[in-house]
Amino acid sequence: MERTLLIIKPDAVKASRSGEILKMVVDAGFEVIAMRMTLLTREQAAKFYAIHEGKPFFNPLLDYMTSGKVIPVALERENAVTKLREVLGATDPAKAAPGTIRALFGTNIEHNAGHGSDSVENGRIETAFFFGEMEF
Ligand code: CMP
Repeated sequence: MERTLLIIKPDAVKASRSGEILKMVVDAGFEVIAMRMTLLTREQAAKFYAIHEGKPFFNPLLDYMTSGKVIPVALERENAVTKLREVLGATDPAKAAPGTIRALFGTNIEHNAGHGSDSVENGRIETAFFFGEMEF
């Protein structure tokens, strides 16, 4: 079964949208296999988003991802990576399809309510980042 990581980001957590977002992913056929709430340190956020280091949005991204609590959620289903990206919608909420998480709850490309792994390999790496291998 394929695995992917959802992060409910600080804007959505602060706006009390976590329950609605979790319902959307469960209704889309995902099984929640691990979940927690945490406040990331800047070092943790930089490690998680290391692939974006050097990009103009890197520092604002770290500011945002450490600005409040996040909820990392490990999810499983067939085609989990692609399916979660569908449920999230495009990175920029202004371009996300109606009814998607980012269209409903995102504010702009920097404050976009949710993260989803972008490949099967990153799904495994990112779920292990928060949950190791032992919790499943
Ligand atoms: P996420 O899926 O978490 O992956 C990287 C994040 O960087 C992305 O969502 C956005 O929140 C943020 N970001 C900010 N600006 C950009 C941009 N121009 N292109 C891509 N991602 C961006």
